[in-house]
Amino acid sequence: MLRLVKKASVFKKRVLLRVDFNIPLSDSGELADTFRIKAVLPTLLFLKSHKAKIIIATHLGEPDKPASSLSTKHLVGVIREVCGLKVKWFGGFNFDSLSKSVNKLEPGEIALLENLRFNSGEISNSKKFAKGLASLADVYVNDAFGTMHRYHASIVGVPLFLPSYCGFLVKKELGALEKIVYNPARPFTVIMAGGKLSTKARLLKPLFGKANSLVVGGILGNNFLKVHGFKVGRSIIEPSVIRWMKKVKFPAKKIFLPKDFIVARAIRANVKTRIVSLGEPILAKEYILDIGPKTIDYFASVIKFSKTILWNGPVGYYELRPFRRGTIELARRVAKAKAHSVIGGGDIIGALNELDLLKKMSHISSGGGAMLEFVAYKNLPGLKILGY
Ligand code: 3PG
Repeated sequence: MLRLVKKASVFKKRVLLRVDFNIPLSDSGELADTFRIKAVLPTLLFLKSHKAKIIIATHLGEPDKPASSLSTKHLVGVIREVCGLKVKWFGGFNFDSLSKSVNKLEPGEIALLENLRFNSGEISNSKKFAKGLASLADVYVNDAFGTMHRYHASIVGVPLFLPSYCGFLVKKELGALEKIVYNPARPFTVIMAGGKLSTKARLLKPLFGKANSLVVGGILGNNFLKVHGFKVGRSIIEPSVIRWMKKVKFPAKKIFLPKDFIVARAIRANVKTRIVSLGEPILAKEYILDIGPKTIDYFASVIKFSKTILWNGPVGYYELRPFRRGTIELARRVAKAKAHSVIGGGDIIGALNELDLLKKMSHISSGGGAMLEFVAYKNLPGLKILGY
């Protein structure tokens, strides 16, 4: 059985709280959305009310080496603003000196560690790194639902060394997603788009088994089209994903791919765009950057009759205005549909927030890949290790 933080003895203990504050940065480098920070407030307040010394750990982005733009230092002010809580910042991963700083915390005080991915031991799930993190605390709490699909040291390594529990956000996510896993109202439609191809592509097959329709757009959609022999210009193609897709038999009746696109010669805001239908030539110098008007209608016709909708990832390059329309139009249709609608993933939450449509969704998941993977496999490595 999943162990909940409510059952943990945390009074005046040092608690390592793994969160997912991996928040998209806007074009100007600012944090675009604070949803993921607000979402862990119940766990933070619970630990604070039990006078725990709270050590928050998160990753930010996908750095292969330390980069000041991805330092968690940028999060300190935001956490204070969003949660009204004062947070100290502890840099580096020298565990002896970190331990000394942690021991100086007063009961109820909060400290934030540096970006976990600045240490290569995080992604490689190094035992040494996990042990170092565990040495800072007496209890481990994971409220990082969005990262529970990763076999990383702070997710599956640390629980081997400490009494471990999940936080209130994880509990809430499971409550909403179990409904989709075990008893989705049908027709059940999955909209999959955005990046992170290697994570998403391998989920296509199990999701096909569960959903009635799979609507595919964004970079994932471009890779699909490439497999079907269409030209995609300079759009991002991942050869390993293409090789894998070629081997899998996808049921043609269930899959909905774009019929037209917005293309441009450069990925910038003030660029000339044109609409191209599927099969028409896309120049070698062009990128596919959004779905076109025919595709919006086509996808909308599927959304309209769905009773359950699970959506991850924008269908276009949402960061730039000329390539937003597809995502905006689909968001409006999902909001109108008489369906149990669940959306997840930093980018899509940011987009719906801007459109003021979040309140129209049945559940907003703090996980993107994790949400899809949970629906596909009914479990996640980070949950399993906590007894789920
Ligand atoms: C996410 O944003 O999906 C989570 O934070 C996980 O990030 P990752 O895909 O870089 O592991």
